[in-house]
Amino acid sequence: MSDQTRFQLSENDIPKAWYNINPDMPQSPGPLLHPGTKEPATPDFLAVLFPMGLIMQAVSMDRWIEIPEPVREIYKMWRPSPLIRARRLEKALDTPAHIYYKYEGVSPVGSHKPNTAVAQAFYAKEEGVKGYTTETGAGQWGSALAMACNFFGLECHVYMVRVSYNQKPYRRIIMETFGASVFPSPSDKTQYGRKLLAEAPDHPGSLGIAISEGVEAAVTSNGKYKYSLGSVLPFVLMHQTVVGLEALKQFEMAGEYPDMVIGCIGGGSNFSGFVFPFLHQNFTAGKKTRVIAVEPTACPSLTKGRYTFDYGDSAGTAPIAKMHTLGHTFVPPGIHAGGLRYHGMAPHVCALYDHGDIEAVAVKQLPVFEAAVQFARAEGILPAPEAAHAIRVAIDEALKAKKEGKKRVIAFNLSGHGHFDLGAYDEFIHGKLQDYEYPQKLVDEAMTHLPEVPAAVAG
Ligand SMILES: Cc1ncc(COP(=O)(O)O)c(C=O)c1O
Repeated sequence: MSDQTRFQLSENDIPKAWYNINPDMPQSPGPLLHPGTKEPATPDFLAVLFPMGLIMQAVSMDRWIEIPEPVREIYKMWRPSPLIRARRLEKALDTPAHIYYKYEGVSPVGSHKPNTAVAQAFYAKEEGVKGYTTETGAGQWGSALAMACNFFGLECHVYMVRVSYNQKPYRRIIMETFGASVFPSPSDKTQYGRKLLAEAPDHPGSLGIAISEGVEAAVTSNGKYKYSLGSVLPFVLMHQTVVGLEALKQFEMAGEYPDMVIGCIGGGSNFSGFVFPFLHQNFTAGKKTRVIAVEPTACPSLTKGRYTFDYGDSAGTAPIAKMHTLGHTFVPPGIHAGGLRYHGMAPHVCALYDHGDIEAVAVKQLPVFEAAVQFARAEGILPAPEAAHAIRVAIDEALKAKKEGKKRVIAFNLSGHGHFDLGAYDEFIHGKLQDYEYPQKLVDEAMTHLPEVPAAVAG
């Protein structure tokens, strides 16, 4: 076992291929359905939204998909990201557990999101489109795609959830610095946005609504723009596997192997990117690593949502997927982990959960911020509130190991820093944050609005 603290690979160690979990899936994640016909979506329909290169990746059964050289060149700006042993946190907890974190906050915009943004911009450029439309919550995804589009000379139109647009201007400013156009959603740019604004001029917006606007803007552009999503879709999860593939090599350097791997979960991308390569080892190399997804009690898609077909957006215009859902009519409570407030979940993650390959826990906002502050004081990094969900469970597991007197190796993905979430830290430090648990009653009510999928398709 190494006595190092920071495990740093060289540029040559950046993976040359992404890991595609499709051929190793123990059960099918189900088809994407056309929102109108409710039949499996054809490549022609999906091609209105996404570059064909990405659609082909989503359905590929090749285990390894080569990373194009221009994408690897850009990855070199921040990859490989470090794996760090949290020695000071271990000491503060007085635990026999060894705690490691993979730190994705070293990317230029401060999160894991550019791992797919750069890849998506590459394939769009190859197909000659003018640019991307997209949505963003608090702005992490929007700033990653704005940066990537700028690198490839593409336009980027971002529909940003209105409440964040008004309350958190800094990420908007980053996006605009990269040359993106940012619209508060609901906006007057789309038919759906105008309808919602007519009903409620000060509508706060939601991720589901912003997705609907991004989809509508791409569909009505006659092929000029494609639509980009920063999570949920199979190719997004796959692009993120550079994170876990690097971590596997770094654990070789450390001379240890994790007993458990932990990630926070909104739509599933940072979690999947980190854990899928470890699941590959579980499936094919006899490893028995526990895999734990952490979500907020305010948006408990996996732990309280129903596993069924639902729309990916609020308007019912995006493809329908089989997923654990709180209902596409879900109105998110105003918790500070903006990136975890999506009503659905990546179909691959849901299939793995349903099959028992991964575990899920929901945690409350106040204990999450307690963990974030404890981590910051020990390790000197201010975590993104989303990533702090993973820290909460890593700390809980380290304390359990202490109680049981067991040495366990715990690893989590620190998906981003929280330098633009200082308002949330301010509220926590001054006692203004509250816990919130999403009521089952609201989930049950939302289930009455699910799309009716023909039994032959639903299987
Ligand atoms: C830092 C960070 N972590 C996690 C997430 C959650 O998304 P996902 O589940 O796709 O990783 C977000 C989303 O915006 C984020 O910004």
